[in-house]
Amino acid sequence: MHGTITNDNDMKNYRHIFALALALIAGISLSAQTRIHVKDAEANGQIIPKEIYGQFSEHLGSCIYGGLWVGKDSSIPNKDGYRLDVLNALKELQVPVMRWPGGCFADDYHWMDGIGPVSKRAKISNNNWGGTLEDNSFGTHEFLNLCELLDCEPYISGNVGSGTPEELAKWVEYMTSSSHSTVAEMRRENGRDEPWKVKFLGIGNEAWGCGGNMTPEYYSNLFRRYTTYTRDYNGNRLYKIASGASDTDYNWTEVCMQNIGDKMDAIAVHYYTCMTWTGSKGSATNFTDQEYYRALGRAVAIEPCIQKHIAIMDKYDPECKVDLLVDEWGTWWDVEPGTDPGHLFQQNTMRDAIVAAVSLDIFHKYTRRIKMANIAQVVNVLQSMILTRDDQMVLTPTYHVFEMYKVHQDAEFIPVDYSTSEIANSDKGPVPSLSATASRKGDVVNVDITNIDLKNDQEVLLTWDDLGKVRKRDVSARILTSKKITDCNEFGKKAKVAPEAFKDFKVTDDGIELKVPAMSIIAIEIK
Ligand code: AHR
Repeated sequence: MHGTITNDNDMKNYRHIFALALALIAGISLSAQTRIHVKDAEANGQIIPKEIYGQFSEHLGSCIYGGLWVGKDSSIPNKDGYRLDVLNALKELQVPVMRWPGGCFADDYHWMDGIGPVSKRAKISNNNWGGTLEDNSFGTHEFLNLCELLDCEPYISGNVGSGTPEELAKWVEYMTSSSHSTVAEMRRENGRDEPWKVKFLGIGNEAWGCGGNMTPEYYSNLFRRYTTYTRDYNGNRLYKIASGASDTDYNWTEVCMQNIGDKMDAIAVHYYTCMTWTGSKGSATNFTDQEYYRALGRAVAIEPCIQKHIAIMDKYDPECKVDLLVDEWGTWWDVEPGTDPGHLFQQNTMRDAIVAAVSLDIFHKYTRRIKMANIAQVVNVLQSMILTRDDQMVLTPTYHVFEMYKVHQDAEFIPVDYSTSEIANSDKGPVPSLSATASRKGDVVNVDITNIDLKNDQEVLLTWDDLGKVRKRDVSARILTSKKITDCNEFGKKAKVAPEAFKDFKVTDDGIELKVPAMSIIAIEIK
């Protein structure tokens, strides 16, 4: 009787066929398994500086006003004017450094406008960003006090484009001098006795563009001039950052390294994942699979770009005395319909989360040279951590990546070995199906695996050199994924993209076996 098992022989035949089928399935799944090898024996003390997880806050749209700051009289719960919900969410991220006040705004900013009694502060037009009225109620004190509340380093972006060396020199003195000079006394009169500690000082921003439309030769000379007068006061040591290239402008790096390589602490490149600089950049939430892969291709193309800048720096500075910073990076889509085009307010989906994860994975690899990265921007602008609307707040998928990855801050980088297939080809090069990174802090090893593929889960065997025997109870994991790549978190609705515990793994003698679902990021902690 076909199809029914009626006697022993039939039973044997059935078992035989069943065994064959099982072997076949096992064979298929084995051959499809990707091995990710954590080369812990090769870790050589290279630290992932916590500043790779830096943030950027500009006077742009509602990043400052309504995002970080609502003022003391607001009905929105606040601490001395800072939004409490945002403050608490940022504390969770352990923000190591915050860049301010721009961006393009920095080269239009005159710091004296933002000190003293708020009612007397200058009102200006924010000409870079929609001509919005800027009342300067958030200025130097408000920013530096915020950094203290967040326990993060301030990164001041100085005005070179429309300012003077004297203006920047006095700003540094105002912030950091403990003397009784007129400028330092002015700070005291404005309520701050002790100077702040300010380490990071940007000498201009995008000097090739909104920061003055300069040539690298001209900028190099200005850099010499500005750095001469920005001084170290009473033990504060400034770390001076040159305005660097726009993504692949290697000539900028070459000329600056040649002319002022011995005068700077770092040079800062900007790299955005953006479909085009002319015309529509595409919707943040409504995109096709093809557009997703195109964006990912552009995101991972940061790696060859970084490699080329580093190669130039290596030529002039083989001892790595000058750091490379990526002090603006992230996705740049069309603004949300109905919002001011000059305010760069965009939603944030699972696509942004994957861009964030693969970018951080890449930065980790180059921390011999890359010492800071600042995603653009912290609240309500471009690839934000947080979105706010009136008294509501949303944590974006990108926020969750930063939260899951914070374990890598100041951890020892561990190289990982894996081969990955190419799932698409974008105009900027191939898109891998997988990305991974690992680091170690004390006895704890953290591994992150991102499945970039939109359709296929990936069987992974995670192995290591000599982490010792890993027992099941020593391994825990979280996953960030969603039903659709276009999913985002919206005001007043349950979050669609948020991390969850991940238990679908098996610890064997060979390593950790897991199935990484399509378009997901898995964070694994091995103790
Ligand atoms: O982050 C938005 C803008 O992008 C910055 O102000 C500028 O530096 C860059 O062009």
